[in-house]
Amino acid sequence: MILAEPVDRYLQDIRGRPDPVLAEMEAHAARDGIPIVVPATGQLLQVLALASGARRALEVGTAIGVSTLYVARALPADGTIVSFEIDPKRHAAAARYLERAGVRERADLRLQDAREGLASLEGPFDFAFIDGVKTQYGEYFEALLPLLGPGAVLAVDNVLLSGAVAAGQSDGYWSAERVAAAREFNRLLLGHEQLLATLTPVGDGVLVAVRR
Ligand SMILES: C[S@@+](CC[C@H](N)C(=O)[O-])C[C@H]1O[C@@H](n2cnc3c(N)ncnc32)[C@H](O)[C@@H]1O
Repeated sequence: MILAEPVDRYLQDIRGRPDPVLAEMEAHAARDGIPIVVPATGQLLQVLALASGARRALEVGTAIGVSTLYVARALPADGTIVSFEIDPKRHAAAARYLERAGVRERADLRLQDAREGLASLEGPFDFAFIDGVKTQYGEYFEALLPLLGPGAVLAVDNVLLSGAVAAGQSDGYWSAERVAAAREFNRLLLGHEQLLATLTPVGDGVLVAVRR
């Protein structure tokens, strides 16, 4: 937990009731230990996608489609989110949930390693969300940046690794190497000349950037 416990609890309490499909997805993730965005992060993604007027969105790490659903709901009827996932069961579950949520037509779900898939895409995209394997963030970013048009919004999850990134050392769960890599990634994006970026303590830490 990054925020003080009462603040975290308040953010959870103030959230509206999830619709039945989202509630079912959250229960599925909790039951099977599938990592998904916390509601505050999902809502941030939705706000950012809507505020940026995104029509073409990209995602690395679909899992069962929770973050995909938040973004898809912010897209216009003819909008699309291309989302990569390497686990066939999660990919299939995402397709079923998004169908039931009424946004399947907006979701271009790809069962493919994002590092290969991103290389085959043509930009420009208006919005992107990175939420795959933490050690691969640098590779996703390098492949994704050329696909973002001017003004595109990029969001990256888990950039504070439960707070270990701020402490600058292993917390017993995240290794010192992982923490160092995350600090280097954050430093790279915050100082990148093609981005205007900021780091927010939402969820597990969400880095938000705009492509200049
Ligand atoms: C943290 S979960 C994604 C959660 C999802 N964004 C959500 O909040 O609902 C990360 C997912 O990335 C997938 N993944 C791992 N490496 C990947 C890769 N190279 N390309 C695409 N997906 C990958 C994993 O199988 C896992 O389901």
